[in-house]
Amino acid sequence: MSRIFYLNGRYLSRSEANISVEDRGFLFGDGVYEVIEIHRGALIDEVRHCERLDRSLAELRIDWPMGQAPFARVLREVIVRNKVENGFLYIEVTRGVAPREHVFPNPGVRPSLLISAKSVDRQKSEITAQKGIRVISLPDLRWKRVDIKTINLLPNVLAKQAAKEEGASEAWLVDEDGLVTEGAASNAWIVDQEGTIHTHPVDHSILRGITRTTLIDIIASRGWRLKERRFSLSEAYAAREAFITGALSLVMPVVNIDGNDIGAGVPGPVSTELRRIFHDMAIRTH
Ligand code: PDD
Repeated sequence: MSRIFYLNGRYLSRSEANISVEDRGFLFGDGVYEVIEIHRGALIDEVRHCERLDRSLAELRIDWPMGQAPFARVLREVIVRNKVENGFLYIEVTRGVAPREHVFPNPGVRPSLLISAKSVDRQKSEITAQKGIRVISLPDLRWKRVDIKTINLLPNVLAKQAAKEEGASEAWLVDEDGLVTEGAASNAWIVDQEGTIHTHPVDHSILRGITRTTLIDIIASRGWRLKERRFSLSEAYAAREAFITGALSLVMPVVNIDGNDIGAGVPGPVSTELRRIFHDMAIRTH
């Protein structure tokens, strides 16, 4: 089945959905995005994703491309037209189309909006989760406001590619103090030998992952110990368990970092349980 893309007010086929050569997203990476999981036809944590999109737009002083009620309707229409049962929505908003000048267009132009939906093979990711993934570490070369979900992803792209070339699935980014910030496209977590779960606190040096936020609620509801604190690579090597979270990876066990097995080198009970219950606890909307 050919995919349908929503672009600036129209539902278009792949070949019809073209952006302008003067779109500021294309020229400057001047835009933001969101990825929302679709689980059994429902959107996972839609409100939190829309709130984060609102914040990213506000930080960059880009207007909402449409009202929030019609926007919510378009999200559903894109899912229906693409017949996605399990997969994800991709939303991108750029500052719009204008002759190439670094400063914002004045008078302002209408932001560009792209929404697409794609199916994923759930079984394949379950098989991956049963085995766990390998991670490599790399220096965090990104700018100082990665809390804004911008489409400027070059360091993330290069880190992911380096991971792939080393037979790993994700790269953990390490700051100048030797502490792990997050993954190239996920948040990073460890479980120490006492069973306490650790993840980087929310500040400008990580993306406040929606999966992360929901998982913190789940951990609290279970009464498990959580510390939002920075951890080092050597703490990660010595951890009992490690895992990543994101709208695409959900909760994905990490079994090896830089060639060091984590725990027994197989997915641990905490990450396995959190993955199992994630969808029961996350907020679904149809
Ligand atoms: N990435 N950190 C980074 C750098 C990310 O790119 C992502 C998600 C996350 C996790 O955020 P969330 O739980 O809201 O998905 C953390 C998306 C999935 C992507 O770029 O494809």
